[in-house]
Amino acid sequence: MIDYRNLRVALLGAGAVGSQVAALLLKHADELADRAGAGLELAGIAVRDPDAPRDADLPRELFTTDAESLIVGADIVIELMGGIEPARTHLLAALNSGADVVTANKALLATHGPEIFDAADQVGAQVYYEAAAAGAIPIIRPLRDSLAGDRVQRIMGIVNGTTNYILDRMDAEGAEFADVLADAQRLGYAEADPTADVEGYDAAQKAAILASLAFHTAVPLDAVHREGITQIDRAMMDAARRAGYVIKLLAVCERLTGEAESSASGEAISVRVYPALIARTHPLASVHGANNAVFVQAEAAGNLMFYGAGAGGVQTASAVLGDVVSAARRHVAGGVGVGESTRANLPVVDIGRAVTRYQITLEVSDRPGVLASIAGILSDGRVSIATVEQAVIDPTTGAATSTDTETGAASARLVIGTHKAREQDLSETVERLAASDVVTRVVSVLRVEGD
Ligand code: NDP
Ligand code: HSE
Repeated sequence: MIDYRNLRVALLGAGAVGSQVAALLLKHADELADRAGAGLELAGIAVRDPDAPRDADLPRELFTTDAESLIVGADIVIELMGGIEPARTHLLAALNSGADVVTANKALLATHGPEIFDAADQVGAQVYYEAAAAGAIPIIRPLRDSLAGDRVQRIMGIVNGTTNYILDRMDAEGAEFADVLADAQRLGYAEADPTADVEGYDAAQKAAILASLAFHTAVPLDAVHREGITQIDRAMMDAARRAGYVIKLLAVCERLTGEAESSASGEAISVRVYPALIARTHPLASVHGANNAVFVQAEAAGNLMFYGAGAGGVQTASAVLGDVVSAARRHVAGGVGVGESTRANLPVVDIGRAVTRYQITLEVSDRPGVLASIAGILSDGRVSIATVEQAVIDPTTGAATSTDTETGAASARLVIGTHKAREQDLSETVERLAASDVVTRVVSVLRVEGD
């Protein structure tokens, strides 16, 4: 066996991910040393409660509550505590002491990324964060390295497993949101407080990270438009299925041309998270359960799809350990870390400037001239109609029953598919539709993505 130089590894956190990272570091120590070209000595594990039960069998003597002391003298610090503080302070301390840092903390990177990357640049250290977006799926390295010579045009990702699990079961079983959410919590996909998942905050953090890498631009979290899935109901799912679509919570990161007077290239970017319809034939439509997938469109490479487990302790540990090996190789090779490439510095535009297709569902009075009035409002708003489907609403049950307008029913449901329109034009048009006397109710407005 080769007598490698040992690198000291400090682990902060031994929860779902950290305990698996520690177990794999210990179990595969020899193999990892061969791959890294250095021994990876787990110097200690900082936690809140050293005596708490762990998901893996780990030596009690490794545990400490003193993260500060553990960081001193470490070559690689793995931060798997989550949250902003004290993770941020520990990470900055680690970088300032010259250690490389591995983290899966999307919340921290999406909110304090520039501060952390600057701190790494100051000392020539490196921050690795493959697990911070889409768990086990290799997507950070492909964007940062493999596609560094290309121009990414668009990313569409299912980057939150909990919401994909919920929407997938609503689609497959006709289940209601609240019932499936309860199951997701029972199965451990969703947190006890599922707000970050179902309201799209988790996906927005990942979108900010992916867009920053793809467009070489620091994307602040508050520039990401965010909507969650709590308003999606069974009726919307059924309507989507009938029209050949499925509803997914998508993170869309897009390069826009001719949109920004303020950038030299005239380019800008749009970053948004919302539930959207995608055709059942699109590769993202077949992402089931709690899986994640990221669909990347690049100028030269064309379409690329990355698919797999977006969460889970041991799955996420795989991505973390890949980063640890990379960090160790860098230590062995020497030299300064490669900073984040943010020099494109493209403006991030407001959602109003995004352009996509829409499906508008309206409840309207079923009488002559209604369709013409609605078509007029859409035309005045520069929104072009692609398809119209009408169903009569049964006055006793309230259900949309048929396309027969001779039944004497007082109202009908109209599902209007639009050609591509600007979000600003669309939302103003929907406001005018809502105010019009032929529209009883705007039932839903969903974007249609994926062409
Ligand atoms: P857990 O909540 O399961 O574990 C957190 C760990 O950090 C615990 O061991 C806890 O100690 C320790 N910790 C928390 N606060 C402190 C503190 N103030 N001082 C010392 N120790 C502390 O988190 P996960 O393992 O699920 O997640 C870790 C990171 O990985 C997060 O950033 C998360 O977003 C990210 N991530 C998680 C995924 C997943 O599937 N779980 C997937 C992708 C990324 P103690 O055990 O003693 O309470
Ligand atoms: N809560 C996240 C999800 C965990 O459901 O995808 C991984 O970031």
